[in-house]
Amino acid sequence: MSAANKEYKRVTVKSLTEMKKHGEKIAMLTAYDYTMAKIVDGSGVDVILVGDSASNVMAGHETTLPLTLNQMIYHASSVIRAVNRALVVVDLPFGSYQGNSKSALDAAIRIMKESGGHAVKMEGGLEIKESIIRILSAGIPVMGHLGLTPQSIYKFGTYTVRAREEEEAEKLKGDAKLLEELGCFALVLEKIPAKLAAEVAADISIPVIGIGAGGQVDGQVLVTHDMLGMTHEFHPRFLRRYLDLYTEMTDAFNSYIKDVKNGDFPNEKEQY
Ligand code: KIV
Repeated sequence: MSAANKEYKRVTVKSLTEMKKHGEKIAMLTAYDYTMAKIVDGSGVDVILVGDSASNVMAGHETTLPLTLNQMIYHASSVIRAVNRALVVVDLPFGSYQGNSKSALDAAIRIMKESGGHAVKMEGGLEIKESIIRILSAGIPVMGHLGLTPQSIYKFGTYTVRAREEEEAEKLKGDAKLLEELGCFALVLEKIPAKLAAEVAADISIPVIGIGAGGQVDGQVLVTHDMLGMTHEFHPRFLRRYLDLYTEMTDAFNSYIKDVKNGDFPNEKEQY
């Protein structure tokens, strides 16, 4: 843990604002279960995202759309039981906030009450303004998410880089400003040109956390299973792999199978 990190006993939305002010980068990772969250929190990460990427990583769905509110609450409450320090942000799942601001508030309240999460994350800008206002008015901190927003995958048709064209870039900049004005405490920018992300981060006072958005932003987020190399079939340019756990785990499983088949496991010391 860095010296700067030790200043924040328990990371809050306020600490993140301070970090941006002091130029300290924010490190964010995903977790969906108790054991992983314990390790991630213990290593000193600032924010843990209970992302709806659980739909892909944990449940094996092709998109994030099928994940339900009850499933998000299950994942988030498992994470919360493990965490002592990080700020825990929970994704509002697809369908829980896009149509009706009252249902959006109900969903956010269920997440806060039933999981103990500290904040929610929502994908979109102007289109979901009413839901954001209503959730914020209940005292629930909101993190925005613009650029590649996987809950809209069927609108985009592909997971390619967003906002390369002027019109989409202008809309994104307007949405980022709007989210700041509404009172969101931070913003995730996913898979957009680094230059555009840098401009947005310089233009708004709330922390901008990038994934595939270059280094000139206020922090970074990765999906933990990707950066550990467990999801070896997924290799976008922005992903830095810190381990090759897919290979290491496969080797360990192979050794175990061999030991069981040979009768080498358990040995004399491994029994009662
Ligand atoms: O669900 C998720 O993991 C996310 C990150 C990719 C930002 O939204």
